[in-house]
Amino acid sequence: MKFENSVIDLIKKRTSTRTFESKEIDPNQFQKLESILKDINEDAVALSGIKAKFVLSSFINLDLKEEKKIGTYGVISGAKNYIVGIVDQDEKNALEFGYLYEKIVLAATDLGLQTCWLGGTFKKADFEQNMDLAEHEKIAIVSPLGYKKDKPRMMEMAMRKVVGANKRKPWNELFFDKSPTSPLTEKGAAEYAIPLEMVRLGPSASNKQPWRVIKDGECYHFFLSRTKGYGVAGFDMQLNDIGIAKCHFELSAESLGLYGEWLENPPMIRPSDWSYVCTWKAEK
Ligand SMILES: Cc1cc2nc3c(=O)[nH]c(=O)nc-3n(C[C@H](O)[C@H](O)[C@H](O)COP(=O)(O)O)c2cc1C
Repeated sequence: MKFENSVIDLIKKRTSTRTFESKEIDPNQFQKLESILKDINEDAVALSGIKAKFVLSSFINLDLKEEKKIGTYGVISGAKNYIVGIVDQDEKNALEFGYLYEKIVLAATDLGLQTCWLGGTFKKADFEQNMDLAEHEKIAIVSPLGYKKDKPRMMEMAMRKVVGANKRKPWNELFFDKSPTSPLTEKGAAEYAIPLEMVRLGPSASNKQPWRVIKDGECYHFFLSRTKGYGVAGFDMQLNDIGIAKCHFELSAESLGLYGEWLENPPMIRPSDWSYVCTWKAEK
């Protein structure tokens, strides 16, 4: 996927927006995003092997009073358009779903639009009413799409404070050198310091940041450190977070001319409380 702006800048720029201007999206930008979704639905989804699709859903005919009632429990205000991620009821591959949905989020950021991943605080029934879903499909994630208001609402500021949305865990809690007891420094990561930093800056459900990476030579092993009590019922939100990490790592590495491939190659040494997900093997 090609962006107008540097993907590293887009990752740094993206933050969740919950207070939107109630104006419509520029038709040109809307069309561009529609065409990106079409490509992803036609090519990338097939390539990933998952049963999913991504659509833009508009609530533009609603008046303001009705709009307030659109099912986000008051978390989002002003947005008239949403990116809706649909999966088959039995689709378990939240990793690839998260990877593709984050590409769309970055594409929207590239077009100057703001977003907010919503996995919990939306009423599925309200969104289902606005689209034709097959019986075997369900909505996994939605995101409002539009232009942020200069001043966020008090509720948005409070939400960010509760989850510490501006903060990320330090490197020594996320990235490791050969063994999970030996932290990886930025110096040790050398040319991969930026792709790892892009993983660290990623959004995650409730900002839990469950990604862990062990570097071993040219291999970067990605793990999921699950948050206790954070269920996988319905849709595995934390595996989805690793998909976001995979997206940030791969796109930023490739933008720096660092190529590699994703493999299943679990390392010998790995902590029992982390789940192995995938490995990036860098080209030598
Ligand atoms: C998979 C996923 C699900 C999320 N679900 C919600 C949600 O239901 N409601 C909400 O307000 N924010 C949700 N968020 C947004 C996170 O709270 C947010 O990404 C995190 O606090 C970091 O803030 P930032 O996105 O501004 O960097 C979700 C994020 C992800 C990645």
